[in-house]
Amino acid sequence: MQELQDILVSEIANGVLTLTLNRPAAFNALRNQLLSELADTLDAAAINDDVKAVLVTGGDSVFAAGADIKEMASLDMVGVMNDIRPTYWKRIAAFPKPLIAAVNGYALGGGCELMMHCDIVIAGDNAQFGQPEINLGIIPGAGGTQRLIKAVGKSMAMQMVLSGAFISASQARDFGLISEVVIPERTIDRAREVASLIARKPPIAVRLAKEVLLKAFDTSLDSGLNLERKAFTLLAATEDRNEGIAAFTEKRKPNFKGK
Ligand code: HXC
Repeated sequence: MQELQDILVSEIANGVLTLTLNRPAAFNALRNQLLSELADTLDAAAINDDVKAVLVTGGDSVFAAGADIKEMASLDMVGVMNDIRPTYWKRIAAFPKPLIAAVNGYALGGGCELMMHCDIVIAGDNAQFGQPEINLGIIPGAGGTQRLIKAVGKSMAMQMVLSGAFISASQARDFGLISEVVIPERTIDRAREVASLIARKPPIAVRLAKEVLLKAFDTSLDSGLNLERKAFTLLAATEDRNEGIAAFTEKRKPNFKGK
């Protein structure tokens, strides 16, 4: 376990690296230090072949209560305009491997937005999701307006962003914001099971699948289908594709090598 200032970085286990946001006294508020550690750790994980998937959690009681309001308070308009934070968010969004979130308790503001940067979300039934920025006289600033509306549709996104109201884990699942709800004691283990399962799959196919799926958010059907076809074609050149098909016909387990 490596202890950064704001994040605990686990050893890699079964191809899964676990990052635990670690500012419990501030409900894991996402100050610059935390975001920069997250972006740096993900950049390193992206080029580490031993990491097949990354799990992000805030632990048992809170995921993250948003940007650090106390830190944000010192920024005027020019300060916000020149803020380094968008560069951290871009690096997190560009992480090419599967990012799994395990959410217990609050995922609010930037915390909900961080969760929406993740590819799969497992939540405890104690989780609450919201974009309460409106109560501070601001709006979501790390993709909350764009990713939320794509995840839950117009009416619920408007309700959440304009009123600041929270939704429960079961509502979030019903609206497609998250994929599974479990008891809070199971959240991290269940997310780790999902991450480990994906970590055993052929890494190049996983990476291309993530890239093509995410493209669906901001491209036409025609362009998306073209990209899908190109990725599908590219995979025909991988050893893992031959191994997957050979293992099926020989009725054995595949041994994927990421080649
Ligand atoms: C800084 C925070 C914080 C935050 C909680 N704390 N949220 N500190 N930034 N976002 C701190 C509190 O100051 C307090 O510390 C401690 O965590 C516990 O919080 P309490 O309010 O005492 O707990 P509780 O009454 O249980 O309420 C929990 C809560 C509430 C509902 C999560 O804290 C809350 O509403 N927080 C703000 C949520 C929010 O507005 N998020 C959006 C932020 S803006 P002390 O030292 O006082 O005990 C945003 C913009 C994103 O995210 C833009 C792009 C990134």
